[in-house]
Amino acid sequence: MDYSKQRLKVVEILQINRDVRCYRFAPADEGSRLEGFKAGQFINLFFEIDGSTASRPYSIASSPKEAEAGYYDLYIHGGGEFTAKWLFEHVAVGDVFEASKPIGDFCIDSASTGPIIGISGGMSVTPLRSMARAVADGSVQARLSLFCGWDRPEEVLFYEEFLQLSRDCDRINAVFAVADVPVEGMEHGYITRDIICNNADTRDAEYFLCGPKVMYDFLERELAPLNIPPEKYHIEVPGEVKQRPASGLRDKFFNLTLAIGEKVHRIKISSEETILVGMERAGIKPESRCRSGSCGYCRAILQDGTVVADPDRETRDTTEIVQGIIRTCCTFALSDLSLKIDIDGR
Ligand code: FES
Repeated sequence: MDYSKQRLKVVEILQINRDVRCYRFAPADEGSRLEGFKAGQFINLFFEIDGSTASRPYSIASSPKEAEAGYYDLYIHGGGEFTAKWLFEHVAVGDVFEASKPIGDFCIDSASTGPIIGISGGMSVTPLRSMARAVADGSVQARLSLFCGWDRPEEVLFYEEFLQLSRDCDRINAVFAVADVPVEGMEHGYITRDIICNNADTRDAEYFLCGPKVMYDFLERELAPLNIPPEKYHIEVPGEVKQRPASGLRDKFFNLTLAIGEKVHRIKISSEETILVGMERAGIKPESRCRSGSCGYCRAILQDGTVVADPDRETRDTTEIVQGIIRTCCTFALSDLSLKIDIDGR
């Protein structure tokens, strides 16, 4: 695992609509360059809120070529969870952040020749924008069909941009759908199998789905008759785990003894938040990237106590389970705990 960080500076903020802003980040240090990435990957931003550490993953919405030119664009919705609201209200041009290098398996690379079908629900569209720009600028030769679903017309992002890209590049086409009301030029309702099959070459296509779990469940049923091989069906991990699995506990606080290298921390954590969030609230700076159970950066060894992990994010292999490794971003305390974070090799 690569724990190194890059320092990024906000160089521009654009108000996209009432709730969404585009934050453009450039290298903070003169002479340094942004880390390269594959279209669809994300970075994790690290910051501090009132003495607590926090981090959030954001997909890079600009293209890999634009990173070579010196910037990443991140789109942040300010009406969402607390940290997004905080970023929306407090971040100004000139602010400097630590960020991870780009990571994630939800991506295409320059060798992809397509066809690729990208399907998004709401704000999760941002990795598809990166893919669209990479296809449009010629760094990816695949054919890309985009299907972007929204609940309400005022939420829609990238409509004009994607249509323009499809006019400029014959390997791109885009279909938008709005669920609540009919909108001229867009489908009404959800993205269905018929809409996809009528607007994309589905033979041997590779699928990239990014959206809420309810969209994944719907599309799993919709697309089942297409018999898409698992290796061609990519799902971006859903957002951060918020809800503890049912366990009979409510609003309890537990003692956590946490050894990180030579240092031992003793803190209280809530049964209602992930162990990762509990550590961050205490001002500890644990590693994390995806915050949704898939990358393994937040791993810790459970030495004593009882925990419960969100079953939908249980991605540990047998070796990890046998070794007592937990992923703190999707695991909750059910008792006092003793954990160890192995920092060897960092
Ligand atoms: S931060 Fe990625 S698995 Fe926890």
